[in-house]
Amino acid sequence: MKSRLLTVIVLAFVAGCSGATRIDEVSCPPNGTPYSYDNFGKSFFAVHCTSCHGGPNGYSSRAFGSASLIRDSRDRIFANAAVGNVSMPPGPDGPTPQERAALGEWLACGAP
Ligand code: HEC
Repeated sequence: MKSRLLTVIVLAFVAGCSGATRIDEVSCPPNGTPYSYDNFGKSFFAVHCTSCHGGPNGYSSRAFGSASLIRDSRDRIFANAAVGNVSMPPGPDGPTPQERAALGEWLACGAP
């Protein structure tokens, strides 16, 4: 019983502390999004992400160099970089709040 209580406390702590906005908390606008991989996602990731997330020579093994790779990681990308989430990219420079909002809308609409 004691260990079960501990598990509950630990889970509540983890859930409570990750202040990130999740993708399921944001909805795609009713009329869809004007953003697409071609007019938005491709350049956003090229400017801000693929220097590290571009493939075998990046700092990270996660590669976001194509629309389908991005779609596969939509929820984690959202939680780290979209809307008010600023964990990625690391360091002081990064997308503007407007760009992060656009990323959130594009991802919430399924990254078309
Ligand atoms: C300066 C290098 C660098 C840049 C630029 C960068 N990242 Fe990362 N990222 C990392 C490293 C290092 C990790 C940790 C290793 C890993 O988990 O793959 C990481 C981890 C991640 C993760 C996994 C963490 C998790 O909680 O699931 C995601 C998602 C991510 N980055 C998204 C992005 C996005 C989106 C961008 C662009 C807006 C970006 N990163 C820009 C270096 C970078």
